[in-house]
Order: sequence, then structure tokens, then C-alpha cells
Amino acid sequence: MARRRQIYEGKAKVLFEGPEPGTLVQYFKDDATAFNNKKRGVITGKGVLNNRISEYLMMRLGEIGIPTHFVRRLNMREQLVREVEIIPLEVVIRNVAAGSLSQRFGVAEGTALPRSIIEYYYKNDELGDPMVSEEHITAFGWANVHDLDDIMGLALRINDFLTGLFLGIGIRLVDFKIEFGRLWEGEEMRIVLADEISPDSCRLWDLKTNEKMDKDRFRRDLGNVEEAYQEVARRLGILPEGGPRDLKGPATMQ
Ligand code: TMP
Ligand code: ASP
Repeated sequence: MARRRQIYEGKAKVLFEGPEPGTLVQYFKDDATAFNNKKRGVITGKGVLNNRISEYLMMRLGEIGIPTHFVRRLNMREQLVREVEIIPLEVVIRNVAAGSLSQRFGVAEGTALPRSIIEYYYKNDELGDPMVSEEHITAFGWANVHDLDDIMGLALRINDFLTGLFLGIGIRLVDFKIEFGRLWEGEEMRIVLADEISPDSCRLWDLKTNEKMDKDRFRRDLGNVEEAYQEVARRLGILPEGGPRDLKGPATMQ
């Protein structure tokens, strides 16, 4: 079979030309990086799990009316997505203090925030993804005020929905990063959720033990990284135990 044309290679994913115009194939690698590529490693099986987890979350978000780039999962490591023009922002939504917010403001990790906080970072590896304000975003033309309104509205709805979904399976959604893209349909442009949502891009803590179930296990050398990703998939009901026919819905925790 002819090798598909590679469009883009990121740290954890590769994008290939899709089977039809306007589509791409998103391939999930096992590679992991942290601290802007300074720490590198491989988490065996991560790509397979993130493909499944992101598929599941994007589908559930689609069901509540969040437009996404997701079309369908193709195989263990690949999904078909709509081709979008990525807005060069990492949109971070935080519910509980952790990571760079804790460092920046000296707030202990685990402190509940008075309300959810949205932050924007300019997607640029050479600059180390600097934090930016809405002023920078509109002045430099990465997005206009109307786009930002859409992005903020979508981000808050996504946060509300995912917070509840994870709570139902005994997981606290501490914070997460999402990306958006512009989808052109003729003259019409819609902003849609793109990229992925997975334990690579979220902080997920066990509700009872506060155990970390996300990429912080890799960033901070806590061990059992793959097991943590597997446990997230298992609780979501998407880790087939007796083969692919054994898929169940999420198991509600008491
Ligand atoms: P931070 O506390 O390091 O700023 O991270 C906030 C959230 O964003 C956390 O859930 C991890 C996620 N994130 C990414 O997905 N990619 C990144 O490059 C960074 C820095 C954070
Ligand atoms: N995404 C990484 C992190 O979460 C940063 C990087 O890719 O270099 O720390």
C-alpha cells in the first residue's frame, strides 16, 4: 500500500492526509515529552489508550452539541478527523490549583479554586508556549474577539460536562488543555474542538486517594504511568476486558 502523505509530526501524534479531501488521519504515538521537550520517554501502549479515550470524550461532547473535529476511530492508533486550521493557542481550564498555577502564585496543589479559571498560552515551542492575555491574542491576530467569545463559551461547557463525567467515575478533573480549530464550510466558519483530550492533556486525580492518573506520573517520575492511563480507560468503560466485544458504558462509582 502506498504510504500516506504525512502532513505534520508533533510530539505525541502524527497527522496524515485523509482518505477524502478535508479529512486527516490522526495517529497516536507512545512517545511522551514534558517541559517543552527537555524530558522524553515512551509510555508503552499510551497511543492506543489515548486514541480510545479521546474518541470517547469527543463523542460524548459531540452528543451534547460541542462541535469537534472527530469523525471516527479507524483502528487501534488512528482516528479520522476533519481538517481544521488550528488556532495557535493552548486553552487551559483549571478547577483546582496544580502545576504552573501553583508555582506562579504559590498556591498549594489541591486547593480548590474559587471559580474555574481559563488561561491562554501561545503555541510556540521555540518560545516555550508563553502565557498570553486576550489583548495579545486579538492584537497579534491569532483570534478575534468573536472567536474568543466562542472559545471561552465552548471551553466552559466542555469543563462542566467533563467535570461531571469524571466525577461519576471517581475522578477529579483538576485542569486540562484543549485546542480549537477553524472549520470552513463554504463561506461559513465554525470554531471546533480539535487535537485530543486524554491523560496527556488533563490532570486527573482519584477522588478518594488524590492519586494522580495522568501525565504528571511521567513528568514527576511517579511510576506506573501506563497503569494509570489504563485505569482511566477502564473506569470510562472503554478498556475491553474480554476483547473488543466486551465494551461497557462507564461504571458509576458510589
Ligand atoms: P500546567 O499546570 O503545566 O500549566 O498545565 C495545565 C494543564 O495543561 C495540565 O492539565 C497539563 C496540560 N498541558 C498540556 O496538555 N500541554 C502542555 O504543554 C502543558 C504545559 C500543559
Ligand atoms: N506537553 C508537555 C508537557 O506537558 C510539554 C512538551 O511537550 O514539551 O509538559
